[in-house]
This record gives sequence, C-alpha cells and structure tokens, in this order.
Amino acid sequence: MLDVKVVGHRGAALLAPENTLAAIKAGADAGVKWVEIDVYLVADDGLVIFHDETLDRCTTGEGTTSQATLSYIQSLDAGSWFGDEFIGEKVPTLVEALTYIQSLGLGLNLEIKFDQDNVDAIVPGVLAELDTHWQDNEKLIISSFNKSALEMCYQLSPTRHLAQLYEAIPDSWQEDLAYIKAYSLHCDYSLLTESQAKAVKAAGYKLLCYTANTIDQVADHWHWGMDAIITDDPNVFLTQELILD
Ligand code: G3P
Ligand code: MG
Repeated sequence: MLDVKVVGHRGAALLAPENTLAAIKAGADAGVKWVEIDVYLVADDGLVIFHDETLDRCTTGEGTTSQATLSYIQSLDAGSWFGDEFIGEKVPTLVEALTYIQSLGLGLNLEIKFDQDNVDAIVPGVLAELDTHWQDNEKLIISSFNKSALEMCYQLSPTRHLAQLYEAIPDSWQEDLAYIKAYSLHCDYSLLTESQAKAVKAAGYKLLCYTANTIDQVADHWHWGMDAIITDDPNVFLTQELILD
C-alpha cells in the first residue's frame, strides 16, 4: 500500500493547473509515486476531476460545477488561467484520469467531493468506474470529508482502502474510522497536534497531512509519526523523502 512520503496535491498544483492531466504529469515528472485528485459529480451524471463548487477560478467557463453538463465542461479551457503553456488543457473525466495515472504507474488518492444537497449521489458512479477502470487496489485510497459518502463506499465496496478526511481531527475520529474500517486518516497539517498524531498512529492507521509546501511547516510532524505529506510542490519534499527513508 502507501509506501511513499510525498503525495502530489491535485496532481502537483504549484507546477501545473490543478486536477488536469498536465498536473498529474508534472507530479510524475517531479518524481512523485502517488497523486491526490478530486472527483466531482456534474449534471447528466458525468464524473470529472475538479475541486471547486464553481467553474470560474480554474476554467474559462462559469457557473455551478454540479449544474454544468459534461459536454459544457469538456468544452472549456482548464489551463490558460495558470499559464500560456497550458492553453488547451481540459478538465479530465474520471476515466481519463484513472487511465492516465495507471499508464504512469502511479498510486492514487481519489478524493470524493460532494454536493451538500445530495451527498451520496456521487458514490455509486465513482465505485462503478473504479471497478471497471482501476486494476490495482493496493495503489488506491478513496478519501472524503463526508462521513456518509465513506460509509456508502464501505457498504458497496468493503475491500477498498478508505480514508477519513478532516480539517481538525474531531473527538469522534476513532468511531468514524472504525465504522468504515479505514486505512488512513488525512487532516490539515496546521491543525494537527502531537498527541492526536501519536494516538492515530497508536491505533494503527496511516496518517497523511495536507497541504504543506515548505519543509518547515511539517518539520515536527514527521517526528510525530506522519506517514506522508500531500503537497502542491513535490520538489520541496522529494529530497527529504530520500533522507527520511
Ligand atoms: O485530500 C487532501 C486535500 O485535497 C483536501 O482538501 O480542499 O484541497 O480537496 P482540498
Ligand atoms: Mg482534495
């Protein structure tokens, strides 16, 4: 399973437009072996790799992501906002991203985003695409901030490796993770305490933190037992990965 200390966030969001195939390639070119990307349900049940509730920041389009059709989203440019060299980059579908990530031999942390009004709607489609298009269960972690979505993942696909995402870790974390037989806990590095980190590790879970982009931000966390950092800029940490190994 997860045997690396550096995971590229949204591919490698400081190196290329986030959540595009270019960002995944940038992470791989930098040397990461795992990437984190976000999957979003859009109108007509399309599944795309995208982070925001609206299309405005990261594409040439506008409006609410969940209400846009897949064909509209696919018509947009998702690279020009980041830099001219990325003009023409598209919002990938989930299947395109799964295919590309496997072709690069990478592991995947797939974060399920959710619509507040219909949290569970995305889960069956994501699991079905994974069943068809992702071969190696040992190179896949499914994560979400949403407990209900993870519970549905566990019910429908109990052998998948699941991760509960938190900002700050709540008191209920042990109960939450036990219920879905979680593989890992992922939290905001800046809100994690030493005692929490040690408790998560003592309970037998992998501990991943997001999103740090300097060595100093998580200098203590490695000593507390953090297994991997999810970063926009893998170059910062890849040298450290060798040292920490
Ligand atoms: O999965 C870690 C991190 O991506 C969670 O936050 O908002 O960047 O998707 P966000
Ligand atoms: Mg994410």
